Amino acid sequence: MKINVRRMQTADVPSVVRIDRMSMTVPWPARVYEREVTTAHTRAWVAEAGAEVIGMLVLWIIVDEAHIATVAVHPQYRRRGVSEALVRTALQEAANEGAVTALLEVRAGNIAAQNLYRKIGFEAVGRRRGYYKDNGEDAILMTLEHLSIETLAHASA
Ligand SMILES: CC(C)(COP(=O)(O)OP(=O)(O)OC[C@H]1O[C@@H](n2cnc3c(N)ncnc32)[C@H](O)[C@@H]1OP(=O)(O)O)[C@@H](O)C(=O)NCCC(=O)NCCS
Repeated sequence: MKINVRRMQTADVPSVVRIDRMSMTVPWPARVYEREVTTAHTRAWVAEAGAEVIGMLVLWIIVDEAHIATVAVHPQYRRRGVSEALVRTALQEAANEGAVTALLEVRAGNIAAQNLYRKIGFEAVGRRRGYYKDNGEDAILMTLEHLSIETLAHASA
């Protein structure tokens, strides 16, 4: 399967929202994605197979820090490297723009996502107790230091 990763556009929002609803406990409304696409510090990405949007990622650049806000892949297309391609592309582009570190919060029970981030080089550095308001679940805080070296090294491997 050939995967193409490109920046999200407003026209992608309906597909992105469908994937989000199939993937997240608390999905974001369409208007949030519509706003993110045009927000200055946001870099929103989609993965497509042919003409179909099958995954998405939203990253915020805050000074020299890249914060992964959300990432999800259509259930039918999981375990084929789609999220890995999204995360690597987004981080590489963030590094090209001057981001030095990356961070994210992930649900303590979301082992698939934690494995994904570990594979890319993130390490768990903390726990935010009761961070998720819907069920009181803890967040694991993960960071990737030295973004440019790490990410570019892996991306060219
Ligand atoms: C987490 C998620 C984004 C992974 O997407 P994906 O495209 O299937 O992941 P990839 O195929 O790129 O897998 C990359 C690595 O992640 C890990 N991983 C992915 N899915 C996994 C699973 N179900 N169980 C264990 N590890 C998993 C593995 O380390 C995998 O590498 P490997 O295939 O070499 O073992 C996807 O399962 C998803 O959309 N889940 C719901 C939304 C979510 O939890 N988002 C993250 C929190 S914001």
